Amino acid sequence: MSRKYVIAGNWKMNKTSEEGAELAKDIVLAVGQQAEVEVVVCPPFTLLESVSKVLEGSNIKLGGQNMHPAVSGAYTGEISAEMLRNHFSSYVILGHSERRAYFDETDNFVNQKVKVALENQLRPILCVGETLEEREAEKTLDVVKTQLVDGLVGVSAEQTGSVVIAYEPVWAIGTGKVATPEEAQVVHAFIRQTLAELYDSAHADKIRILYGGSMKASNARELLAQEDIDGGLIGGAALESNSFIDLVKVAIDQD
Ligand code: PGA
Repeated sequence: MSRKYVIAGNWKMNKTSEEGAELAKDIVLAVGQQAEVEVVVCPPFTLLESVSKVLEGSNIKLGGQNMHPAVSGAYTGEISAEMLRNHFSSYVILGHSERRAYFDETDNFVNQKVKVALENQLRPILCVGETLEEREAEKTLDVVKTQLVDGLVGVSAEQTGSVVIAYEPVWAIGTGKVATPEEAQVVHAFIRQTLAELYDSAHADKIRILYGGSMKASNARELLAQEDIDGGLIGGAALESNSFIDLVKVAIDQD
């Protein structure tokens, strides 16, 4: 089964418009015309405009880091699917562990966003993953299954073509502690099996499942070599052009 790799940069709360445009420019110059690997950048909302201008005419896609499920209204500080579309976003990261941990986002709330994103032609990158405590208590698969199943309630088999899953063990995010390729593969295979139970194996086989958590060019090769790892959601290594471009090149080579 050939699935096109996705390498998505999650810039989190970093960079000004000018800095973001510079970074995007470097990425476009280096890997903006190739189509073997799908490259996505997810800057903060305030950079969407400047970054989208730089990405114009390239194959690099733009994504948001979050959104609110309502169409519009009194939700101070929030941003809607339509606003993301309006700024040329085609992806949106949903249910990132930082949103779950610091902003108390529940599976139900994440699920509402997933459905609204799909209704608005945005591809959700649905994040799942266990904490260190949960891993040590051997609850990893239970936690991941609940986040996955509850996050996809009401999503049809046809819509799964637009869904990307990101497995991000919380203990590996920003810590430099990367899951071993074997540890990650176990969870990725379990996610695919759960998707096959929810839908069917034909649909499950097409869904890209990204790994996230201290992924960088030096460890990407082994991770991407795993059967069910279809790319990466990259935090720290996405903030600097060379480290991100090198990682994309590893994915291109592996293709
Ligand atoms: P990291 O972050 O690459 O810095 O570990 C990944 C993420 O949080 O998406």
